[in-house]
Amino acid sequence: MKYLKDIDVSDKRVLVRVDFNVPLDDNGKITDDTRIRFALPTLSYLLENGAAVIVCSHLGRPKGGPDPALGLAPVAQRLGELLGRKVRLAGDCVGPDVEALTEKMAPGDILMLENLRFHPGEADNDEEFASKLASLCDVYVNDAFAVCHRKNASVEAVTKFVPVCAAGFLLEKELDAFDRALKKPSRPLVAVVGGAKVSTKLTALYNLVEHVDKLIIGGAMANTFLHARGLKLGKSRVEKDLAEDASRIAQCAKERNVPLLLPADVIVAKSPDPDAKPHSVRVDSIPEDTMALDIGPDTRGLFSDALRDAKTIVWNGPMGMFEVDTFADGTNAVAVAIAGSDAFTVVGGGDTVSAVHKAGVSDRLSYISTGGGAFLALMEGKTLPGVAALQRCRE
Ligand code: 3PG
Repeated sequence: MKYLKDIDVSDKRVLVRVDFNVPLDDNGKITDDTRIRFALPTLSYLLENGAAVIVCSHLGRPKGGPDPALGLAPVAQRLGELLGRKVRLAGDCVGPDVEALTEKMAPGDILMLENLRFHPGEADNDEEFASKLASLCDVYVNDAFAVCHRKNASVEAVTKFVPVCAAGFLLEKELDAFDRALKKPSRPLVAVVGGAKVSTKLTALYNLVEHVDKLIIGGAMANTFLHARGLKLGKSRVEKDLAEDASRIAQCAKERNVPLLLPADVIVAKSPDPDAKPHSVRVDSIPEDTMALDIGPDTRGLFSDALRDAKTIVWNGPMGMFEVDTFADGTNAVAVAIAGSDAFTVVGGGDTVSAVHKAGVSDRLSYISTGGGAFLALMEGKTLPGVAALQRCRE
């Protein structure tokens, strides 16, 4: 695979695929611009090195056509503010008007294309749509780690039609962090997995249990593992149909001598209401009319101790319903323990990243991924289609 520093971009029109799929509030205002800020090194480098830069991204999931609520105008404006210059937004991402705009571009110019997903060809990985995008540029740079798990036209098919393709600085950094964490980790390697559902992380758990030295499972997904051990969990969320998988993962851990840590106590309440009266109970004594909403104080200690000797930690998924302060202590404690360790620490997934910010430890982690689904796909041991496409490119 080629990287940005390996290619000549001077006097070239460079199409940069970024993932500016940022959260917007009800008024269409960006509530977190991390993904835009993280793409700045690549964009600034290109502009400073004589490229004409054509930026393209998706935003949200428009249904098969243009959706005014998902236009990229607020994103182009924010990018402009961050770059300290105006970023023009094209009315579309392909077609004669866009071609006319890109043909007029000079070195140091920057243009943003309108939401790629306004065309169904993007999600369909359609070659005709991809070749239209490709016709806008001489060089293609993928800096959109967070969408590299999608076989989308601007991520995959486009690489067949542009003579020179390379990975941008953000993509390179994300892949390096992951290599260091999961492919060539300093050991012990500990994975902390949480969140609401086992179902969304089943493949990741099967893969992780084969590679890690310790597996810590918290959040509502731990309930399914506890249920598989025969415990009664009251009104807690349990995916009963996955009990067998949970047992198989536990068995696999046992065969590999990998400690699999589950909560020993939990915070329960009658409902997730912030005013519900929470209390901690052992996991074998959960009252029938309550639900587990966070790990308990003993488990906080247990998990923190288990993280102490780690040389590498990968974390995805909160330990409880951390959005409600009453149930955030477990997630905060794990965030603090991870941040306080001497390990190389990698954190990913939207909720987990919010939890890290909420706990105030973001600057004490080695790497915070911009990926949600893409991060999970790597945890599942998959090769990302966007990365495979770059690897296939000759130039
Ligand atoms: C993300 O936010 O995870 C990426 O932008 C991918 O978005 P998608 O799940 O809508 O494909």
